[in-house]
Amino acid sequence: MSGAVVSGSVVSASAGFVPTSTGGVITWAIYLLCAVSFVLGLHLMRSPGTARRGNLLSAGGMAVAVINTIPLLAMDGPNGFGWAGGTWALVALVGGLVVGSGLGVFSARAVKMTDMPQLVSMFNAVGGGAAVFVAFADYYRSAGAIGHMPAEFTIPVWLDIIIGSVTFTGSIIAAGKLQGVVSGNPISFPGSRLVMGLSALAAVGGGIAAVVTQGGALWLMIALAGALLFGILLVLPIGGADMPVVISLLNAFTGLAVAMAGFVIQNQILIVAGALVGASGSILTKQMADAMNRSIMAIMVGGFGQGENAAAAGGAATGGKSVRSVDADDIAIQLAYANKVIFVPGYGLAAAQAQHEIAELGSLLGANGVTVYYAVHPVAGRMPGHMNVLLAEANVPYDEMKEMEEANPEFETADVALVVGANDVTNPLARQSGNPISGMPILDVDRAKSVIVIKRSMGQGYAALDNPLYTDTKTGMFFTDAKKGLASLIPAVKEYLS
Ligand code: TAP
Repeated sequence: MSGAVVSGSVVSASAGFVPTSTGGVITWAIYLLCAVSFVLGLHLMRSPGTARRGNLLSAGGMAVAVINTIPLLAMDGPNGFGWAGGTWALVALVGGLVVGSGLGVFSARAVKMTDMPQLVSMFNAVGGGAAVFVAFADYYRSAGAIGHMPAEFTIPVWLDIIIGSVTFTGSIIAAGKLQGVVSGNPISFPGSRLVMGLSALAAVGGGIAAVVTQGGALWLMIALAGALLFGILLVLPIGGADMPVVISLLNAFTGLAVAMAGFVIQNQILIVAGALVGASGSILTKQMADAMNRSIMAIMVGGFGQGENAAAAGGAATGGKSVRSVDADDIAIQLAYANKVIFVPGYGLAAAQAQHEIAELGSLLGANGVTVYYAVHPVAGRMPGHMNVLLAEANVPYDEMKEMEEANPEFETADVALVVGANDVTNPLARQSGNPISGMPILDVDRAKSVIVIKRSMGQGYAALDNPLYTDTKTGMFFTDAKKGLASLIPAVKEYLS
């Protein structure tokens, strides 16, 4: 199924797209059904209620697509039948399937929810790296035609190599930053912009030279080296706070690289899957940047905040204002006698894994006639959809989860806004100019009649800013771990309700 069917100096760029046997038609028809499952799966993922089904449908489609590759290869021999790859190819294929699936299942199960962005980033790196290998493999299969390769073959190979390489090294650095292996602070050195410019020049110039020389291997290697270095230098200067946006962007790049690999080996399912990942990744990146009121370009040329280091920096200034400290009993009275309570979960809730406690408290209040909502900010937590996933895991009813636009008008009539481990997404400083979160849409928590904040200290959030909400006279601070704090509220509330 090689895209470039090379015979002597003739390279047929389109032969691989056309099945020539009944078996070929069947395998391509199965691919088509797989592509449909990806599209329908994405459609179902639009709502938390159907997202699990969507995920299963798409994953099932992908499993069928992978297995379907085996008969396709089996028909790749002379005259459209016979195993062309030899024993080692079969061993590599089955071995890769078993080892890759095993590692995937293990890492997805073992990783903590708060570490999921790092895992996604490593998956991106694997996708980008694989696309580069596919490009080189097909290029060397066509080695007989080097010096005679038409541009329509060399260009996809080159694009696959550079997009895949930038994704590979960029994703590894991004994962390292989120994991704390690489500093979350922006990293640059004297002349780094110049080196970055030169690496970009090598990546682009090498590719052009490869096209002009009709497939010169040395030029492709120069493009490869330039793109690998460019990926590292692109992500190093970006602050940890912007890393989830960068990961989403690199995810879109992975999709592009995979689609390019599909063009190289002329495999429609790779093109469709890659295009879907590229398009949805790009939309997600834009939505995340908008939710932080940042442009993607501003993120790529310099980040804000200091990532995890900000929270570690500890105590925030109160500007001489006093902070009102409350305990579980004070909060329980307010909750038990409220008509409407809005929970505001943030990164701290995810870090403490307190989703089950908040859900239990919510259902307790709901069962006693209190209207309960969960206000979910689009960037609460460390990755898109973080809060929805956690709350869904704890069986919070979907109709109680309100997106920011829906939740904000509700605060005015809420008796209590209970903020659990959220900071930046509630910070009223966002309404003022001249600070890193200026203009970022926030949850209007301060408009509720009473505000309770559960967090461990006066420590800052991801954007390394003090939060005036904590010194507001209507705010009570419950300084404790989110899980412990919520767990202590449940019996206290029960006491007042009974
Ligand atoms: P943050 O602003 O990071 O605040 C989280 C707060 O949780 C901290 O102030 C911390 O205070 C508290 N906390 C940590 N561990 C806790 C625990 N075990 N128990 C109780 N509290 C705990 O979180 P946020 O409001 O969710 O905002 C998210 C931030 O991440 C935003 O700046 C956003 O721009 C950024 N970001 C998010 C995304 C996505 S897609 N979600 C993407 C890029 C950037 P203490 O240390 O005092 O407890």
